[in-house]
Amino acid sequence: MDIKKVVVIGSGTMGSGISAHLCNANVPVTLLDLTTEISEKARDRIFKSKPPLLLDKTQINNIKVGNISNNFDVVKEADWVVEAVVERIDIKHNIYEKIFKNRKEGAIVSSNTSSIPIKVLSEKLTSLEKKDFCITHFFNPVRYMGLLEIVKNENNDLDKINSLKKFCEVELGKGAIVCNDTPGFLGNRIGVFAMQVAMTEAFKMKLSIEEADAIFGRPMGIPKTGVFGLYDLIGIDLMADVLKSFIKELSENDPFQEVAREIPLVKKLIETGYTGRKGKGGFYRMNKTGATKVMEAINLETGEYSISQKINVGSDKVDLKSLISREDKFGEYAWSVISKIIKYSSSLVPGITKDFNDIDEAMRLGFNWAKGPFEMLEEIGVENFFNKIDEFDGNEFLENLSKSKNQDFYGSRQKYTEIETLGKVKKKAISIDGNSSAQVYRFNDYNIVEFTTKANALDYDSMDALKKATDKPLIIINESMQFSAGVNLTYTMDFANKGDFKSIEKFIKYFQETCKHLKYSEHPVISAPSGLTLGGGFEVMVQSNFVASHTNIVVGLVETIVGLIPAGGGCKEMLARWLETEEAKKDPNYASLKVFDIIGYGKTATSPVEAEPMKYLKPEDKKIMNRNSLLEVSLEILNNNKDFKAPSEVKFNLPGKTVLPEMNKILEKLYNDKVILDHGLKVAQELAHVLSGGDTSIDKTLSEDDFYKLELDAFMRLIETKETQDRIKHTLATGKPLVN
Ligand code: NAI
Repeated sequence: MDIKKVVVIGSGTMGSGISAHLCNANVPVTLLDLTTEISEKARDRIFKSKPPLLLDKTQINNIKVGNISNNFDVVKEADWVVEAVVERIDIKHNIYEKIFKNRKEGAIVSSNTSSIPIKVLSEKLTSLEKKDFCITHFFNPVRYMGLLEIVKNENNDLDKINSLKKFCEVELGKGAIVCNDTPGFLGNRIGVFAMQVAMTEAFKMKLSIEEADAIFGRPMGIPKTGVFGLYDLIGIDLMADVLKSFIKELSENDPFQEVAREIPLVKKLIETGYTGRKGKGGFYRMNKTGATKVMEAINLETGEYSISQKINVGSDKVDLKSLISREDKFGEYAWSVISKIIKYSSSLVPGITKDFNDIDEAMRLGFNWAKGPFEMLEEIGVENFFNKIDEFDGNEFLENLSKSKNQDFYGSRQKYTEIETLGKVKKKAISIDGNSSAQVYRFNDYNIVEFTTKANALDYDSMDALKKATDKPLIIINESMQFSAGVNLTYTMDFANKGDFKSIEKFIKYFQETCKHLKYSEHPVISAPSGLTLGGGFEVMVQSNFVASHTNIVVGLVETIVGLIPAGGGCKEMLARWLETEEAKKDPNYASLKVFDIIGYGKTATSPVEAEPMKYLKPEDKKIMNRNSLLEVSLEILNNNKDFKAPSEVKFNLPGKTVLPEMNKILEKLYNDKVILDHGLKVAQELAHVLSGGDTSIDKTLSEDDFYKLELDAFMRLIETKETQDRIKHTLATGKPLVN
């Protein structure tokens, strides 16, 4: 069945997120709530949301709003009605009665409930109505979270459920996993259990919250908010409600009960308004005294706050094997938490799903874990796991595995989708090599490079892997959250601290050489970005021959913010793009001024729709809603370009000094208004020099190499200054820019 019109009922967090995402997919949607005023406010929230729920804010009015008393007729036209009202069964039952009285024959009706079983939701429906009713459990924020859990009832029309699944996969870009009607389905059942284990073990082992978050984070392939940070983000009060619902729904002997018990400190936090980021603070709080802001962390034993400590666990890599065999409190904590998660998840197979693989996918898509529990088990190694684990009586999955000791128990990945994902294809590589910053997967007709560093920051090794992989068509793609946050600033600062600027210069030259090689090698190079694609990450993408971009990207050149200028070809490529415009053909200053504005402010785009007007992306670049499809689309591009020929080199005619007065006028105003200070002015002047073409004039022709040289020289002059180094250090320590 075709889904052409949708009505969403309930315009709170989830209803507004779902409507916004339908709008992203160009599906006409109407959002209803008790009053039109509430739905209108929801639309305002969508418009102002950060990170933005909409790909294109100008489309906001495509979300129609109304109220359930006067505008219910829209339900008659809808092919799909999504209920996202408060989690109260009486209210939901009333709404269903009204929907089924009005809906078009055969229209799908679904609930976004996070905890009410479908048997309870559908108990008042006729068997005919049940045919078209299911749960569609989206995650918050809807645009960004990949997981959609679909729960069927025993009467469902399966073809219809499948076509809904397909719609959500293709049009909405979701990883749609069909699961059983059990409390918390897959994602929350394991995800919330994992959070509770991480929290209760931290209390037991007397770890500070910063220590727990430092382990239950990046080293485990879990987002850096960790457990206490995530609690603050979700809302400590909301988590308490979620736990109450699990306690009520799950059997008394479910191990979840043990970790869901109320903790006195948590109760006190909620009672005193410390509900997390939305409240006065939570486990962490920002203490503002005058103009200074200090991040503080709670002491789990005393409940007192003190300045939050940065914890150095000595490794940035996800390496579970080493992590759990560390003989210190970090290793002990990691093993205790991981083993409990693996034990619990495996005990739930086949009860919550017969495919254990789906549990891993739910954790990946719903909680942004790099690996789910079963993949963690695979990585730790079956033998190693059973040597360490205490007991697992009654756990059929582990009992069987302990007998078979089959290290290859995992089998294929991402079974929930028919798409040939990177996760599936990687396993079929003929050979895998690489280094500490990137993996190279080699196939008969092409290679894949996947960056593997923190936020996929780029260094010499990342470039080396790219360069070596251009012996065949190359696809640059990855499974982690970011394509690349840019050049590794820690790596750069390590050299700067030693005064070793020669090594920085060598690195930047190699970066340039690699990017040039990507652009002009005889085989096509495709970048398939998702997430952060900034600075050096953008330069890799923009010097690839083709781009297949996920719709969730944050793209741009942000070097000026840390007192640098793009030096991997970013200035050059942006100029080349703007020089092609009609305006630039008439006005020799146009391109330089445009790019000066974009790079000078470090402008970023949060979607392809925003990226195109700045020319960070081109109209012909592919834009894809479902991240899982990036590889398939990239392979399709390869297939369609069998007779690929490398492009010819770009030549530049730029105004040189004659454009500088105009640029300086802009800078003067910013400086006088104190928007930029002394060093900001210096950085901007270096940028102006590069973008004007340096010592040139409009009748002289510059080559790409001339430009690389201009970029490099300006970059080196800046990195050698104390002020740029101060900016970098500040950003590395705080994640924020320094204005100097
Ligand atoms: P919310 O409290 O933000 O919004 C609920 C909305 O429903 C409110 O705008 C309210 O005015 C409206 N409402 C109440 N009674 C109504 C009625 N009779 N007719 C029309 N509208 C009515 O709630 P939220 O968080 O958006 O949750 C909605 C549903 O999604 C719940 O079932 C919840 O369990 C589920 N859910 C929530 C998630 C979250 O992170 N907040 C995640 C996944 C599911």
